[in-house]
Amino acid sequence: MNADSTSPAQKIILDCDPGHDDAIAMLLAHGNPNLELLAVTTVAGNQTLEKVTTNARAVARVAGITGIPFAAGASRPLVGPQLIPDEIHGDSGLDGPQLPEPSVPLEDIHAVNLIAQIISENEPGSVVIIPTGSLTNIALFARMYPQLVERVGGITLMGGGHHTGNMTPAAEFNILADPEAAAIVFEESWPVTMVGLDVTHQVLAVPERMDQLKAIGTDVAQFIAELVEFFGASYMKERNYPGPPMHDPLAVAAVADPSILRTVRAPIYVETQGQHARGQTIVDFRRTWSHNDPSGLGVTDDPDFEAPNTAVAVDVDAEKFWDLLVDALTRIGNTNF
Ligand code: BDR
Ligand code: CA
Repeated sequence: MNADSTSPAQKIILDCDPGHDDAIAMLLAHGNPNLELLAVTTVAGNQTLEKVTTNARAVARVAGITGIPFAAGASRPLVGPQLIPDEIHGDSGLDGPQLPEPSVPLEDIHAVNLIAQIISENEPGSVVIIPTGSLTNIALFARMYPQLVERVGGITLMGGGHHTGNMTPAAEFNILADPEAAAIVFEESWPVTMVGLDVTHQVLAVPERMDQLKAIGTDVAQFIAELVEFFGASYMKERNYPGPPMHDPLAVAAVADPSILRTVRAPIYVETQGQHARGQTIVDFRRTWSHNDPSGLGVTDDPDFEAPNTAVAVDVDAEKFWDLLVDALTRIGNTNF
């Protein structure tokens, strides 16, 4: 949605695998006035490429998104086996609500080429990519269009974490689904912000939060409630959580309002080997760059130390996140999908 303030909206590309929380991320990306959604690209992850691409286009109809390109990307990870978490997202990848027939067309272009086209056409540094699935498309983009990497304004991704995993004790799903791709993305020169489980597990869609959303009273808010009902039941069954984490919307929220997160700049490595730790993101807190962490832990002011281009989210203002989501849904209103 166009900004109604004086500052121009931040241009974004959403690279996703809907997925319940990806769907909510799309709605937030569309409804937030500080963001201008330029394109939606898809990658296999929560379900097959075909299913997540259909889901993305169905969600576009729910949200009332028109006039931007949708393109499908990688159907398999670069190296490892394909993982599909149907215990969390169901057989369709978006089980729960009745999905409308998609109305936005699917572009006849690979997601990676579409991303390249958009990055070349826009001012250097003006477009941020928000990946909320595995990083296969983004790694392919870096390898196919190395000359465009420095034109990307930043990568704010949902994935990883520095305390815990969810698929294994060490690894989060989006990273474990394609660790080699993730390693490429973290090693590139663009600024990367990792919005991982440390913060997304602090933002749970518990029943009281859902009451707040349902009170908006629109068909879109009701759609989210039905998504969360299925997603929440999965998280209750699999993990005994009182509500499902708002993983992917939090990455979008972090771009819409960076003050939602406290981040620390530190080197981040992806474990691609490891008997128990494949897919783990390892944050080197010994070498954090000066930041706003009052503890000052590990901060160096050594002028010879090159500031890392990667940052990890360590804390979140959940209240601000919910305000942002309610505001976006209120702006979207009824879409009569
Ligand atoms: C991530 O994995 C997916 O299942 C979700 O959509 C989210 O992107 C959380 O680990
Ligand atoms: Ca996702």
